[in-house]
Amino acid sequence: MGRILAIANQKGGVGKTTTAVNLAASLAVAEQRTLLVDADPQGNATSGCGVARDEFQVGTYEVLLGNTPIQDAIRKGVQFSHLDLLPTSPDLAGAEVELVDDDERATRLRDALHAVRDRYDVILIDCPPSLGLITLNALVAADAVIIPLQCEYFALEGLSQLMETIERVRVINPALGVEGVLLTMYDGRVNLSRQVAADARAYFGERVFTTVIPRNIRLAEAPSFGKPIVVYDLASVGAQGYMAVARELIERLAAPATTQDSGHSQTPDTTKATTKDTNQDTTPDRTP
Ligand SMILES: Nc1ncnc2c1ncn2[C@@H]1O[C@H](COP(=O)(O)OP(=O)(O)OP(=O)(O)O)[C@@H](O)[C@H]1O
Ligand SMILES: [Mg+2]
Repeated sequence: MGRILAIANQKGGVGKTTTAVNLAASLAVAEQRTLLVDADPQGNATSGCGVARDEFQVGTYEVLLGNTPIQDAIRKGVQFSHLDLLPTSPDLAGAEVELVDDDERATRLRDALHAVRDRYDVILIDCPPSLGLITLNALVAADAVIIPLQCEYFALEGLSQLMETIERVRVINPALGVEGVLLTMYDGRVNLSRQVAADARAYFGERVFTTVIPRNIRLAEAPSFGKPIVVYDLASVGAQGYMAVARELIERLAAPATTQDSGHSQTPDTTKATTKDTNQDTTPDRTP
């Protein structure tokens, strides 16, 4: 049965969608049957996979509202034979309001995914930058969360809010764990990046993926061509980074016990450093 992973962090622009698209693509390349669920009304995961708004009639919104069976909304074989996509349109933003009085509002995505999870090895959900009803649906549906953490100033701020939300969701979804923390936009030449990485490892320990995703302009360019990085530029450090994360994830999923949240509710002090990150490519980094 497919493992359902929500890619969540209510902070905007930390690399959720970049991770969702490129990890999904890398898993598909590794012949894992993968479903990518675009649960953000911005629809960046949908367009990042090369699916344009006029190419689909139904998606996450219609599925959440119960208007369309999920099987009818999933697009099969997107870019790779092993990658399926549940696309989304901006209509999804309305679901937050339209479902507000619905008794099953928090479990709709879980119930929809139930019908298809047998078909996949991994299901990744790209969450919006908020802790609203859509993210709640993703956390209720998920077995575990992947938290992308941008190696920038204030990276760890607000994480206690996410951890508290995960704790609260365990009332409905007791097994919800933290699969991993992924350091994104890392630049080993910048002190601040190294500081954030050290803080994250001090706090989350082994749950931080060994691979860090470097800041890489090719990763930022790829979505405008509607291509995952492994299609756009396989040799780039960004592609190699996400392929390495996929390998780590596959190993973790094959291990008998999965990582669980240690129950911390406090985040450590964020770094006092003030260095601004650069926008240049770096070589791929392993554990800093
Ligand atoms: N490793 C990276 N190197 C360079 N640019 C990156 C990297 N990861 C992400 N970006 C760029 O940073 C921006 C934010 O990334 P992304 O859209 O993945 O974040 P997000 O968390 O999904 O944002 P939102 O909260 O708005 O959904 C994008 O322009 C993306 O192309
Ligand atoms: Mg996003």
